[in-house]
Amino acid sequence: MTKICDLDDIEPGASIGVTVEIDGNPKMLIVVRQEQHVYAYINSCPHIGSPLDLQPGKFLSHDKKNIMCSTHGALFEINTGHCTFGPCKDDHLEVLPVRLEKGAVLFAG
Ligand code: FES
Repeated sequence: MTKICDLDDIEPGASIGVTVEIDGNPKMLIVVRQEQHVYAYINSCPHIGSPLDLQPGKFLSHDKKNIMCSTHGALFEINTGHCTFGPCKDDHLEVLPVRLEKGAVLFAG
């Protein structure tokens, strides 16, 4: 079972970036916590494939309601990864399935 991080590593309503080895390959991830829910996506923008965070771990828009790509400002729903605004509108971040167990965020794939 691959551990991604501890729930307590992420402030409620905030995000972090982590790199985790999955199936033998290092993957850069976006991890967002909303209360007791955690959402994880591959840190690659569907627009041109670059990481979303120009400042490491800063993935959220100013109002904290969306994941934002710092490169060209695309906005993504936190709970689905669906792009609602920007050059990749209606595309998706790649979801990484996760589950919570005893305060740890685990890869559920
Ligand atoms: S690289 Fe993300 S919006 Fe262009």
